[in-house]
Amino acid sequence: MGADTSTITEQILREHTDGTPERGEPIDIEIDQTLLHDVLGPLIWLEFEALEYDQVRTDVAVQYADHQAYQLDARDTDTHRFLRTISRKYGGHFSKAGAGICHQIQRERFIEPGSTLLGGDSHSLTMGGFGAIGIGAGGLDVALAMGGEPYTIEMPEIVEVRLTGELGEWTSAKDVILELLRRLSVKGGVGRIFEFTGPGVERLSVPERCTITNMATELGATTAVFPSDERTRRHLERLGRGDVYRSIAPGEGAVYDDTIEVDLSGIEPLIATPSMPDNVVPVAEVAGTSVDQVLVGSCTNGSYADIAAVADVVAGEHVAGETDFILNPASKLAVRLLAEEGGTTELYAAGVNLSESTCGACTGQGHVPGPDSVSLRAFNRNFKGRSGQENDSVYLCSPEVAAASAIEGEIVDPRTTDLTPPTVELPDDMTSSDAEILPPDPSIEIYRGETIGTIPIKDPLGSALSAPITLLTGDDITTDHIMPASSEILSLWSDPQAAADYVLTRIDGEFPTRSRAAGGGWIVAGENYGQGSSRENAALELVELGTDGVIAKSFARIHRSNLINFGILPLRFADPSVYDRLSKGDDLAIVEDAAGAIRSGADRLTVSVNDEWRFEVELVCSEEERAVLAAGGRLPYTKRN
Ligand code: F3S
Repeated sequence: MGADTSTITEQILREHTDGTPERGEPIDIEIDQTLLHDVLGPLIWLEFEALEYDQVRTDVAVQYADHQAYQLDARDTDTHRFLRTISRKYGGHFSKAGAGICHQIQRERFIEPGSTLLGGDSHSLTMGGFGAIGIGAGGLDVALAMGGEPYTIEMPEIVEVRLTGELGEWTSAKDVILELLRRLSVKGGVGRIFEFTGPGVERLSVPERCTITNMATELGATTAVFPSDERTRRHLERLGRGDVYRSIAPGEGAVYDDTIEVDLSGIEPLIATPSMPDNVVPVAEVAGTSVDQVLVGSCTNGSYADIAAVADVVAGEHVAGETDFILNPASKLAVRLLAEEGGTTELYAAGVNLSESTCGACTGQGHVPGPDSVSLRAFNRNFKGRSGQENDSVYLCSPEVAAASAIEGEIVDPRTTDLTPPTVELPDDMTSSDAEILPPDPSIEIYRGETIGTIPIKDPLGSALSAPITLLTGDDITTDHIMPASSEILSLWSDPQAAADYVLTRIDGEFPTRSRAAGGGWIVAGENYGQGSSRENAALELVELGTDGVIAKSFARIHRSNLINFGILPLRFADPSVYDRLSKGDDLAIVEDAAGAIRSGADRLTVSVNDEWRFEVELVCSEEERAVLAAGGRLPYTKRN
């Protein structure tokens, strides 16, 4: 018998698909678990109902109240009431506000090695730290998965990240993922799955692995996965879930599409400078920059291991007078463990603010930086304005660098200070209580308050398609630009009709009014349109505004799927230089019978500009995606089929 050539990904997918996953071919993945957060959850449940499902069919479905845990607005509290009742009614669990961030609790309480999870949040890749396949998807795909439908993707390339050596003092898992971002950029993972192998793997704890897989999202990867090994077994035992352990390792002759070598011993403390996660440089290069605010937390760096490292660094020290230091633990379990181990006292004595367990500041909810100030964060994203301050200056680093910098009041490479490097041992008992995770309850009555709107549905695609360009924008437009997530707007996300007034207003304040007046329109964009969060309302709200399609130089993966799911055409310039000839207000008409051409498999369409000249666009999509677009989106398509 020959050597086993299967990768970890292939082994897991083989158990969750009908055939053998071949690169580039569509695969239908059976989903074991789903997770929803509270800003997109309402839409997903409305879609679940619109699809006429009456019960969740995955093994586990969990609804979290994490983004809006502060309940700054009564509308948030009311929406949580809706989520608490609807999730339990249909067979899901509900995690109460303040219990923690979805990815953190899912990994503490539910995820199992070898399982598949589809999350309505882009950082669902976190689950790869446990040897599971976690994928972030559009909400409609998650609603379908909750109803028992498989999730279809084109089988990505599988890239081996071979880890050797061992992390040195003051370097951590965050530096490993920043190093990958430095080398590969935010586009380096598109169409790829990263699989971590090599002798360095066993030197990383499960929380460290989760930090790396979590932030592989910023590489644009489909997912990222570590082996499930003895450290996984030991960690699951700590969590009181040792019974779900199984060993998963790549076959000895595992074949990868590419291999990236990372020597952990050679990694130094790194930092992403404003305002992209791949603007990575050694910390030493920006050392001496004054910091007004330091935050540690989020689903990337809010685990017990992270916050305990902070407590260790600040023990016996004081946060600098001109600097605020806020710790956002990712779960109440992490807070409880910190209290039990004594770290809470150190934090308070040093002058650190301990926040509720919430996404909070990660999406600009609380701790918004002041104008012209520097915010140093052990988070995952520093896109312009995400902090709630339009002209922010946010740096991303490890919890260790953040803590040392908070003490010094300026960015420091901690290796140049007299501080003692942290040493964190995970407690033997890390079991959680059941107090805040409510189980399914079919007898419950669903509460629907005024914050809950309806899902807009597009008409089937017609043969004539002509509309003006309502927005002309540049490269790297994020879903944060499209559907802003500031505290004022997040409370409206459960009501698509109200939230539509804010679409793309970070780029052009008149876009919603102009689109409504035009009764349709095209968005024209540069490269990587729709990168960032998986938020499906960045596509769904375009239906509410009547937008017909987006013509871009390229699209981010999840957002492109979301556009198709809501019947918005994602068209790519055949010749990107045409972009420079277009202007806002130009009338664009598809020359062919649009619906007919798309249904019959045409991969190029001709666009007429003001009846004066023409250019070609590409539509790269599967047969099923064409049928979805022709039907006006996946919701009408699924109901019809
Ligand atoms: Fe929450 Fe920020 Fe993670 S919004 S899910 S902590 S990326």
